Amino acid sequence: MIRTRGLAATFGGGVPIRFPDVDVPQGGVLLLRGPSGSGKSTWLAVVAGLLAPQQGSLEVAGAPLVTNGPALDAWRARHVGFLPQKLHLSAALTVAQNLALVHWAAGLPPDPARIEQTLAALGVAELATRRPHALSGGQAQRVALARAVLLAPRVLLADEPTASLDDEAAHAALALLLQTATQAGATLVLATHDARAVQALHAAAAPDQVCGQGIFLNEITLHRLSQLVS
Ligand SMILES: Nc1ncnc2c1ncn2[C@@H]1O[C@H](COP(=O)(O)OP(=O)(O)OP(=O)(O)O)[C@@H](O)[C@H]1O
Ligand SMILES: [Mg+2]
Repeated sequence: MIRTRGLAATFGGGVPIRFPDVDVPQGGVLLLRGPSGSGKSTWLAVVAGLLAPQQGSLEVAGAPLVTNGPALDAWRARHVGFLPQKLHLSAALTVAQNLALVHWAAGLPPDPARIEQTLAALGVAELATRRPHALSGGQAQRVALARAVLLAPRVLLADEPTASLDDEAAHAALALLLQTATQAGATLVLATHDARAVQALHAAAAPDQVCGQGIFLNEITLHRLSQLVS
């Protein structure tokens, strides 16, 4: 779950961006829309505990984000999965070693079996010993998604996951994100200005005629100018 009240934040001391209040239940999906520069990545950084808000309060996965330092780092590593726009896979490490960093960051013992299982669930188990330069774009994205969900996070934050993908790959990436979040019972936040992603989430939220309910979808749109705090 994610609950924010009166959040405002800024990168590098500029004019703070004021964000609408958000309530997303555990397992729900938040679509965070807005044009380039409107603050989507900034919002994700605040909710991930990477950037302290200038104002306001927030609760993520049941915990108020008030502390910082090593305790917050370990909490984030344990409970928040992050799929950044630039994947940030370490070029010097193999796929499996990139994932092993997650356990290390969370202060957990190594767990090669879990890494193998997670890569297999995303169909990329055979890539475990490759280095990132030897992956296709779609493979690299699956590896980054495996890294984000390795510890079954309560919250999964995805920043423009379809921006650089063609239609087919974008469709597959969105389906994979939704399926992975649903299976893990994670709250998914998808930040995007891609109309294809918006359409896909709206479709997933529509009541399914066979299975009943669609996903719980909440949506906020950031607007560059109206966000500015005077
Ligand atoms: N590291 C940074 N240092 C200083 N300012 C930044 C930094 N990152 C972003 N900003 C500024 O903060 C504002 C919000 O940027 P942000 O990256 O959150 O937008 P966004 O909605 O994610 O855009 P995009 O769709 O292009 O990814 C912009 O004015 C941007 O220039
Ligand atoms: Mg961004």
